[in-house]
Amino acid sequence: MTQCEIPPSLALNSDPTPTGVRPDRGVFISTYGCQMNVNDSERMMSLMEMANFTPVDRPEDASVIIINACSVREKPVQKVYSEVGLYRKLKKENPFLRIGVAGCVGQQEKENLIKNQPLIDFVFGTDNIDELPLIVARLYEEDGPGKAVEARFKHREPYHVETLVRNPGVSTFVNIMKGCDNFCSFCIVPFTRGREKSRPLQHVLTDVRHLVKRGVREVTLLGQNVNSYRDDDMDFADLLAAVATQTDIQRIRYTTSHPKDFNEKLVETMAKHQNKICEYIHLPFQSGNTDVLARMNRGYSREDYLRKIEMIKKGLPDVVLSTDIIVGFPGETEEQFNDTVSLVEEVAFETMFAFKYSPRPFTKAARFEDQVDEDAKQSRLVRLIEAHETQAFEIVKKYEGQVLEVLVDRAEDATGKVSGRSTQNKNVHFLGSSADIGKLVPVRVMKAFPNVLRGERVMS
Ligand code: SAH
Ligand code: SF4
Ligand code: F3S
Repeated sequence: MTQCEIPPSLALNSDPTPTGVRPDRGVFISTYGCQMNVNDSERMMSLMEMANFTPVDRPEDASVIIINACSVREKPVQKVYSEVGLYRKLKKENPFLRIGVAGCVGQQEKENLIKNQPLIDFVFGTDNIDELPLIVARLYEEDGPGKAVEARFKHREPYHVETLVRNPGVSTFVNIMKGCDNFCSFCIVPFTRGREKSRPLQHVLTDVRHLVKRGVREVTLLGQNVNSYRDDDMDFADLLAAVATQTDIQRIRYTTSHPKDFNEKLVETMAKHQNKICEYIHLPFQSGNTDVLARMNRGYSREDYLRKIEMIKKGLPDVVLSTDIIVGFPGETEEQFNDTVSLVEEVAFETMFAFKYSPRPFTKAARFEDQVDEDAKQSRLVRLIEAHETQAFEIVKKYEGQVLEVLVDRAEDATGKVSGRSTQNKNVHFLGSSADIGKLVPVRVMKAFPNVLRGERVMS
């Protein structure tokens, strides 16, 4: 972890009520966005706990509120302002309350947020999370700045972020790389997460070994574009193999992959370590039409994508595929949209995340002239979802009668129900107790729905 110097006034065991800070020192974080944002919120909370703050479940109990916001689609800045507006009354009642905005919206908007909404006291970017305790400490200094903005990318610094997670449970996320250099023409992520940087392979291994000691059974390796992972001459497939063979973790997942970089070596590595690496691949294709893909700057054609899928299915016959799609990209015609529907039908994805194109600041596509109107986008989204749903019901039927290995992560002792994920990332429910948490249990699927499988434990 990047060492963060904690000021004496906030360090553990210091006077718990430094000037100006309410004695309860509660922190409330609301999180939007991808798994990386979820993981970042955990990091923020861990750092605040080290600085003697306490997590609270309600904004009413907080001295510090952080909105960790996502900027990938649909009016994210307005969402932040409306959430901050909800806290106006709390701020009146409690003059010590400090409100901060973080995540991709913090990075994108920086000081504009404070200019446009004075209820906001501080803003920090995606590379400034480890400075959070210092930023908060400065806010509470008697002659301090009153407001704080830290949103500079640390392009030159190595990416050293040991996983900071308070209660990892049986499954947790581990960042392996950050940023994105692909600049898809619709996407804001390269501007909000900066350039690609990878953690040293040995750091990732040490992290996973520590998590195993804390009871973690499954890790999801995270990056905006994991296929770009590099540590000297080691690539992502080498990292996966190392985590599989040099740690005692039982299951490995990863997200997200880019089709242009997804290669045979990765498929071979997954096949070789099937006992640990889950045969689940999230491979966003965005559009089924080659001309649209070119204008999206995705770096592959429809045919290239289908060839990759063929290679994957050949090497991993039981693979489960999921994808992301954008409908209504500027200039997309009905015919081109139909190519997206036909690609969905051809590949048979078990899971699909479909979005209406949303113009984002800084991106090329936002300046394209032929924007698609809202009604057409909505109608395409509905048609795509309908086409997939019909298929999804059929696809999951194959699980009925199969025995899946389920990692139990939740138990309701009152009802005697437990649930967990199979290696295929299916949510499986069956009868059990809290003693099952953290165990890998064989379960025969009795009834399969797209979002949940119901089954019975197989007694050995
Ligand atoms: N790194 C991942 C994507 C992260 S963003 C990848 O390359 O696949 C998650 C998803 O949000 C994208 O796959 C895309 O489908 C969607 N998305 C990104 N920008 C968007 C935009 N401007 N409008 C609509 N959807 C968008
Ligand atoms: Fe965005 Fe494209 Fe990078 Fe994914 S690969 S984060 S869609 S720019
Ligand atoms: Fe959103 Fe940033 Fe993730 S824009 S999807 S929180 S990388």
